[in-house]
Amino acid sequence: MSLIRKRGVSCVFAVFLLGGSVAWGGDPAVLKPRVPPDRIEEARTWRNPFPVTPERLERGKKLFHGKGFCVTCHGRDGKGLGNIPGLRGKLPRNFTDPQWQDARTDGELFWILQNGSPGTDMASFIPLVLTEEEAWHVLLYVRAFGGT
Ligand code: HEC
Repeated sequence: MSLIRKRGVSCVFAVFLLGGSVAWGGDPAVLKPRVPPDRIEEARTWRNPFPVTPERLERGKKLFHGKGFCVTCHGRDGKGLGNIPGLRGKLPRNFTDPQWQDARTDGELFWILQNGSPGTDMASFIPLVLTEEEAWHVLLYVRAFGGT
């Protein structure tokens, strides 16, 4: 009897440790996929067709600050501004968070640029603001905030 109880306790402890490590250091809600379940499998197969080079990063940076105006919500440091007048719903993502960078594929980020993030003020940018080619370039820059 006492053996069974001991096992029970260590099981609970193991589950606690696992759960703790998944959420460690970050808000789990931020890591929750933004692409709807029926679209995410396809989106995860998309790859950025433009390998990163200093020139392409520079182009992405220009789009982030200029034509795409991403900087107005995501900030110069990519950490996301918290005081945007009139912004509804969730705050802009912190692009420097390594857990968030790891949790997303390029395809998912591209899907968000095409469709927006449902239920938030992250709007769709393709095709009205950015071409697909420009969007892939701006995503190279978004990835650079994660140090890659
Ligand atoms: C009006 C403010 C605003 C602008 C402008 C904006 N964003 Fe966002 N963005 C947001 C908000 C708010 C979120 C958080 C949405 C969420 O939590 O799902 C977000 C989320 C994102 C995400 C992450 C979604 C995820 O999977 O976690 C990416 C990538 C992104 N934005 C890229 C961009 C790029 C690139 C631009 C410029 C072309 C841009 N955003 C312009 C407000 C903005």
